[in-house]
Amino acid sequence: MSKTISGFSKLSKSKKIDWIVETYFSHSKDAERVLKQYWNTDEKLQQLHDEFIENTISNYYLPLGVAPNFQINGKLYTIPMAIEESSVVAAASKAAKFWLDRGGFKATVLSTTKIGQVHFLYDGAPENLKHFFKTVKPKLISASSHITKNMESRGGGVIDIELRDKTNSLKNYYQLHVSFETLDAMGANFINSCLEQFAKTFKEEALVFDGFFKKEKNIQIVMSILSNYVPDCLVRAEVSCKVADLAEGNSISGEAFANKFLQAIAIAEVEPHRAVTHNKGIMNGVDAVVLATGNDFRAIEAGVHAYASKNGSYSSLSHAKVENDIFTFWMEIPLALGTVGGLTGLHPLVKLALELLHKPSAKELMQIVAVAGLAQNFAAIRSLITTGIQQGHMKMHLLNILNQFEANEAEKAILTEHFKTQTVSYSAVSDALANLRVKIDD
Ligand code: MEV
Repeated sequence: MSKTISGFSKLSKSKKIDWIVETYFSHSKDAERVLKQYWNTDEKLQQLHDEFIENTISNYYLPLGVAPNFQINGKLYTIPMAIEESSVVAAASKAAKFWLDRGGFKATVLSTTKIGQVHFLYDGAPENLKHFFKTVKPKLISASSHITKNMESRGGGVIDIELRDKTNSLKNYYQLHVSFETLDAMGANFINSCLEQFAKTFKEEALVFDGFFKKEKNIQIVMSILSNYVPDCLVRAEVSCKVADLAEGNSISGEAFANKFLQAIAIAEVEPHRAVTHNKGIMNGVDAVVLATGNDFRAIEAGVHAYASKNGSYSSLSHAKVENDIFTFWMEIPLALGTVGGLTGLHPLVKLALELLHKPSAKELMQIVAVAGLAQNFAAIRSLITTGIQQGHMKMHLLNILNQFEANEAEKAILTEHFKTQTVSYSAVSDALANLRVKIDD
């Protein structure tokens, strides 16, 4: 039975577990055992993880896999991916190998501007506000110099502050729309600290501004926060090859493959139901690398999907064309990533993942992540238009099914061999395992 509790966060970790086990698991030692099974024996490492968030009771594992053979702008990478879905790493590796033999991936960072906004209400004449903004803008910048100093010395900082009139959408609603360059940091803390300082200075200065009538002085700050919509923090990933070269490994000709591929993309461009799944496939690759490198995958997801709707209807992020007998497949996606700050220097596996990627700059990581997304998308479409998705998917899922049936190592080896030539399904695996066990019993 659920019940409420006050002061939960103040309890020790073991008392928290006692309460969970007592309240939700009828005092079962089994629940406690499962939670503790995932604790790290290295106490310092465990404490590090405990302190990432509040109310930690255990660790939640995801597999960390690697996809080798990615050639990006002529450089080879083995890409770390943290993901639970069985076929994703295999698909990425397959796509990497396919394009390795065809010149590899090209990636370009198109822009790196991030956005933050101070949302406020102002009840008065717009010209007076514009006049105030012009007067106060240099003060906003100077009053935040203690926050921006370090970032500026490295070449980043506040790019511009604009006053935006949003009163057509909402009564009395205006914004300070601020653009930032945060270099190798994702920059959330930097941006939010700057914005809160701008808001404070803006409000204080309004109160003493001569050009305002009395009621105009009372600017109401609603909130100050970065935006995860970053259409100007954009990266492009691309592959291309001769149409005939697409044939390899497929049962259809290069030309037929290219035609069907273009058709699949065209469907995702016009049909939101398909576009969502198509883009989900891209995010299989993107999220896995974002997570492995300690970045905020929720921010990336939100920003990327908003970008997919930028023309008013949800559409495919990737595109393809054939021109002069050359097949080109590409996408542009917004990615605000960091390779310093946040978890990047704290989580040992994140550090390792970044080292594996040759300690990339944020720009380089944008390229790697975008390429992982494009590769994933290529692999998915390739399967969808040739063998169908289930063949590869179920092959990779076979071990999960066998584990569900608690197959031992010998059974796994025999059935993995058996299913190399048979269609994998839950019931087929169940039957095959039952047959095998009967045979062994006999
Ligand atoms: C599954 O995780 C992803 C796919 O559905 C993507 C797609 O349909 O393009 C295979």
